[in-house]
Amino acid sequence: MKAFEIHVDRKDIRRANLVETPAPIAGPGQAVLQIEGFSLTTNNVTYAATGDIIHYWKFFPTGVDGQGIVPVWGFAHVVDSNSDALTKGARLYGFFPMASHLTITPQARGSSTVMDMAAHRKDLPVVYNTYRRVGATDPTEDAKRALFQPLLATSFLLFDFLTDNDWFKAEQIIIGSASSKTGLGLAKYLAEAKPDVPAIIGLTSDSNRAFVTSLDACDQITTYDALEGEIAQRPSVYVDMAGNADVRSRLHHHLGDNMVYSCAVGTSHWDKFTPTGDMPGSRPRFFFAPSQIEKRRADWGPGVIDRRIDEAWRRIADTSGGWMQIKTDTGAKAALKTYRDLAMGIMQPNVGHYIAL
Ligand SMILES: NC(=O)c1ccc[n+]([C@@H]2O[C@H](COP(=O)([O-])OP(=O)(O)OC[C@H]3O[C@@H](n4cnc5c(N)ncnc54)[C@H](OP(=O)(O)O)[C@@H]3O)[C@@H](O)[C@H]2O)c1
Repeated sequence: MKAFEIHVDRKDIRRANLVETPAPIAGPGQAVLQIEGFSLTTNNVTYAATGDIIHYWKFFPTGVDGQGIVPVWGFAHVVDSNSDALTKGARLYGFFPMASHLTITPQARGSSTVMDMAAHRKDLPVVYNTYRRVGATDPTEDAKRALFQPLLATSFLLFDFLTDNDWFKAEQIIIGSASSKTGLGLAKYLAEAKPDVPAIIGLTSDSNRAFVTSLDACDQITTYDALEGEIAQRPSVYVDMAGNADVRSRLHHHLGDNMVYSCAVGTSHWDKFTPTGDMPGSRPRFFFAPSQIEKRRADWGPGVIDRRIDEAWRRIADTSGGWMQIKTDTGAKAALKTYRDLAMGIMQPNVGHYIAL
């Protein structure tokens, strides 16, 4: 197959198909990127689940009614170019379609990044439209970066946001979906800062409890079923990577006014995500990571937060051999199967998927 895209049914995101497409050719000012590989986690399923609300379907339109392409984090190189900003052979890291190619309209931003200026992306967040130039392929490092960088960057920014707000005076931080990479990252950044942090409570499924225990980062691990009996009624922050409406509502009712801050980050339980209406305690607020980056750029000057994020994700990723196996599969069919499995909730928390094309 020369070129392909994986199309996902926007009304039922478990349904996905491999579609053969003509190999793209660069038009005026454009560059064609051949995608080399990308990670797949629940985060990508969440992009699909929230595709209409948060506009993820707008990045890589299919031109086919009702079908969307899920964004992924990975690597690509330029195979055709009519742009001075990107020459043939240049390698990039960033936000790509689950497909073999992407055509962009690059504009250089300093020496290390380029932006896609394509008209259909101009109103979408800059963070997703920016591609970073990278050096030669290193399969192990590439997989690690694609898998951990986007997720642990968020974990670190959450940690930074909580520190910046003096933990909202909470005595405990409750992490929903503690077995997710974003959740375990937050637990690890909090654990690094001990003893000057509130108690760390990992909230997870019964089946993932042993994995969260093995990470050795939480002070207490509680399963969703047992939260009322096990979580103490004291000032708490909830950092919600699960988005499970029932769990969120039960936790708010259990803690009442002791829910001092409720932070909505993700919907790993995307099929159980519904609006919860009025609940006791602090109203859930969406966490928008770029806002914390902007705040720190203003607080600390340019470059500092970016450097700290880089150091932070690498520090945790470099220990990952002890608690996570990176599984690399090859080809479009492997991508399709892995995406479908993740959308069906078929996964092991100690396995991280990378697809090499
Ligand atoms: N707002 C942001 O900027 C931002 C950035 C990064 C990530 N996120 C969000 O954080 C969440 C976690 O992403 P991730 O990539 O880190 O996840 P991941 O590592 O793939 O997490 C897997 C875990 O998610 C839970 N899970 C996944 N699918 C499920 C299903 N169908 N039913 C029940 N539980 C399921 C399970 O954890 P438990 O059993 O522990 O619940 C599972 O161990 C996603 O919703 C993602 O979009 C948000």
